[in-house]
Amino acid sequence: MTQMPINMDHHWMPFTNNRLFHQEPQMFEKAKGVRYWTPEGREVLDGSSGLFTCAAGHGRPEIAEAVYSQLQTLDYTPHFQRASANSFELAEKLAGILPEGLDRVFFASSGSEAVDSAIKICMAYHKAKGEPQRTKFVSRSWGYHGVNLGGTSLAGMVGNRRDFGGVTVDVVHMRHTWSEEQRYTCGQPESGAHLADDLEEICKTYGGETIAAVFVEPIAGSIGTIVPPVGYLKRLREIADKYGILLVFDEVITGFGRTGEAFAAQEFGVTPDVMTMAKALTNGTIPMSAVAVKTEIQQAIFDSILADRPELMHGYTYSAHPVACAAALATLGIYEKDGLFARGRALSPTFLDAVFSLRNLPQVSDLRGYGMMSGIQLTPGATPGAKGSLVQRKLFDAGLHVKATGDALIFAPPLVTEEGDLGAMVDILQKVLGQVELAA
Ligand SMILES: Cc1ncc(COP(=O)(O)O)c(C=O)c1O
Repeated sequence: MTQMPINMDHHWMPFTNNRLFHQEPQMFEKAKGVRYWTPEGREVLDGSSGLFTCAAGHGRPEIAEAVYSQLQTLDYTPHFQRASANSFELAEKLAGILPEGLDRVFFASSGSEAVDSAIKICMAYHKAKGEPQRTKFVSRSWGYHGVNLGGTSLAGMVGNRRDFGGVTVDVVHMRHTWSEEQRYTCGQPESGAHLADDLEEICKTYGGETIAAVFVEPIAGSIGTIVPPVGYLKRLREIADKYGILLVFDEVITGFGRTGEAFAAQEFGVTPDVMTMAKALTNGTIPMSAVAVKTEIQQAIFDSILADRPELMHGYTYSAHPVACAAALATLGIYEKDGLFARGRALSPTFLDAVFSLRNLPQVSDLRGYGMMSGIQLTPGATPGAKGSLVQRKLFDAGLHVKATGDALIFAPPLVTEEGDLGAMVDILQKVLGQVELAA
């Protein structure tokens, strides 16, 4: 049977060169485990867990059944002054795997919404504590915190901010933590902790009492996996404490086993005041995100508001959507039942060895990795920053899906990946990268 041609005129695709895509569409029709299939039936291995979403692999029946059952029972509840029981159940389950002390959970639908919610919660906290002048935020060069207005202000990936001048949040950026001497470091670089002192410099320049919070990804993901130097996050924690600044970890990518622990905060032994999460919370099946805060942050806000008012004038139609909660509960059930965080940790040395086997290629100029995430830096061609999407397209044709940013590939397969499939993924990388013209 011949397939009807698809009319692509009307869907404006996100973060996509739409004109190129219309000429050479790269479509998925089906997914299972660590595989996608194109409409032509060709297999494409999933080297980026979708978009770091599908940690437990695709097509998990446990999630499908929970979602179907929830849709038949209670398809929607507003969460303004109403609730479904599974939202409380989910928040309690999350509190059980979050770092100790972070046990109050606010729900939203995307990582970007979680980041903007976290910004508002930090402001509300300082106002509650009698410091409404703390309205400035600090983030980091090369950081990614989503694309809503708050996250766009925090963005250290300048391309995401450049065209949107005058956005609302007042942000000062620290330096990123990558340096030349870290090239080809597997795991945490030994040098670079002193870069956390940028926060102290910013406090001295602007006045620590004007700063609400510092936002960082514990491992900078979207830029291409930049692993924090040993001691860096701890130093940030100390400086934040010294100046009364809230430390926010954006764990939208690093959450749910990517580093070996439930969250990178536990892996690196540094507890933030606020944490954002999304993506693998529902294994990517239903949009959902969350902001977790320390008990005392919520308590301070509650104590400051009259008893007959909502404590936070903020929320979304889809906050704690019952179907998303059902998907998340089923997902957390899989992580626990299958011991997936420990599985990711056990697979990590094999994974990182395989990634670092690409070192021999002149097309590769740096490799980075931690847990089950890695960055493959491509040797820039004639137009710096253009290699990633070029290579990404070639990899798709050769049977591997990976996320690309600028000249970097972010290789982070599902935690359920078998060694054989991992080997097949790296073979495709070796072959395709080896054929890319250096000057292209
Ligand atoms: C660290 C981080 N924060 C926020 C976001 C935004 O999430 P979303 O695309 O769901 O809005 C992302 C997305 O990749 C992310 O990596």
